Amino acid sequence: MPSPLSPIGVFDSGIGGLSVLQALRDVLPHEQFVYIADSGNAPYGERGDAFVQQRSAYITQQMREHHDIKALVIACNTATAAAIEGLREQHPGLPIVGVEPALKPAAQLSQTHVVGVIATQGTVSSSRFATLQAAHATQTRFVVQACNGLARAIEDSTRPGRDAAADAAHIQALCQTYLATMGSFGPQPDQIDTLVLGCTHYIFVADTLRALVGDQVSLLDTATPVARRTYSLLHATGMLRKPAQAPGADQACSLMTTGELKALQYAAAQWLGLPPQLCQAAD
Ligand code: DGL
Repeated sequence: MPSPLSPIGVFDSGIGGLSVLQALRDVLPHEQFVYIADSGNAPYGERGDAFVQQRSAYITQQMREHHDIKALVIACNTATAAAIEGLREQHPGLPIVGVEPALKPAAQLSQTHVVGVIATQGTVSSSRFATLQAAHATQTRFVVQACNGLARAIEDSTRPGRDAAADAAHIQALCQTYLATMGSFGPQPDQIDTLVLGCTHYIFVADTLRALVGDQVSLLDTATPVARRTYSLLHATGMLRKPAQAPGADQACSLMTTGELKALQYAAAQWLGLPPQLCQAAD
């Protein structure tokens, strides 16, 4: 049975969910986290629902059996779209928080009422996304673009022995191609003035996206709202650790991957400043 001292489980198709883990660590500094990067099976976005549901179910089961998690954060828009309802049915007592593209905040923020959304094919084709879009489409026109290959390119860029300049050029070319098909970006009427990053990997190429859309376009992701939601759920059920129960730095985070260990170590160090010994291969 999980207790307040149990860890919070977090997973993604790969390293993208580290952006959510970062926000969780900021909002919940006294908690312990177990992160699984399913990089051996990434990307999820071009795989189809059945595969993503099966991987999500397996990872959740592992987290419960081996780590006795007290809550699960699905740090992946694609897995949330495909699997969150099934996971909630399979694990009725477990608080489960998912990630969805920030359409509502974007609709509220946009002055031109034209919002761009970039995400995986799996996310933009899902019925959850259609419902979300319909709920906010009265005042806002959404320009939606599936970015096939982009999550994969970001994953690949962290693998050992890569040509960093070639990877950066490939990522830049993909971003440029997809954004160009969406239309014009900027603050003028009919321009896209807000861009939703609907895949947790994309925040790691925010500089590339920013350079392409310009300084006057807002980039929105959902990592911090997801972390706050996780806090609220645990607070409401009395499952938060007390500050005095905070784990030491070497216990606060345990990261596992089904892919290459060195890639996870690189990403964890580069983006979260975490030491390599916190990372290990998943079973
Ligand atoms: N990071 C994931 C998301 O937020 C999925 C990327 C992928 O594996 O295609 O959708």
